[in-house]
Amino acid sequence: MSKRLVAFFSAGGVTAKLAERLAKAAGADIFEIRPEQPYTREDLDWTNRNSRSSVEMADKSFRPAVAGTVENMEQYDVIYVGFPIWWYVAPTIINTFLEQYDLAGKTVVPFATSGGSGMGRTNAELAVSCKGARLAEGKRFGADASESELKKWSEGF
Ligand SMILES: Cc1cc2nc3c(=O)[nH]c(=O)nc-3n(C[C@H](O)[C@H](O)[C@H](O)COP(=O)(O)O)c2cc1C
Repeated sequence: MSKRLVAFFSAGGVTAKLAERLAKAAGADIFEIRPEQPYTREDLDWTNRNSRSSVEMADKSFRPAVAGTVENMEQYDVIYVGFPIWWYVAPTIINTFLEQYDLAGKTVVPFATSGGSGMGRTNAELAVSCKGARLAEGKRFGADASESELKKWSEGF
């Protein structure tokens, strides 16, 4: 059996709940990708062009700092990476996270929650941060996706 990790970023808690359910369903370890500087409600205001998230997401080379690291990342074969969709892609903190590790030979599997849009150009933006890894086509789930749905999906990697 391959060893699996669910790593997730969640600004509002929706993705966190899904990630916990997925980790249970997949028999995976879990790691929360925490920003060094947490996002406030104002930071997340997508209607404001000058909010922190708007400014960061307008620059695809921006890398928000992550607090902490996964210990012994080398032991994992499959890494499910979860996040809320921001502006049709993964928040750039996911790029920061992926770039912290040597992912050669691993499989990276994105999953997300959103207000309704799909994975969009997510993988096009994540590929630069997954050198040497296989970046699988990810999936957007409803917040209430069941453990059995997640289990079935997780077994495909
Ligand atoms: C800055 C920002 C941008 C967002 N952009 C999108 C988007 O492009 N499409 C969409 O369907 N939802 C978008 N959303 C909504 C989130 O993806 C959705 O609420 C998600 O479930 C939040 O997950 P979380 O509670 O784990 O942070 C956006 C939310 C924020 C804060």
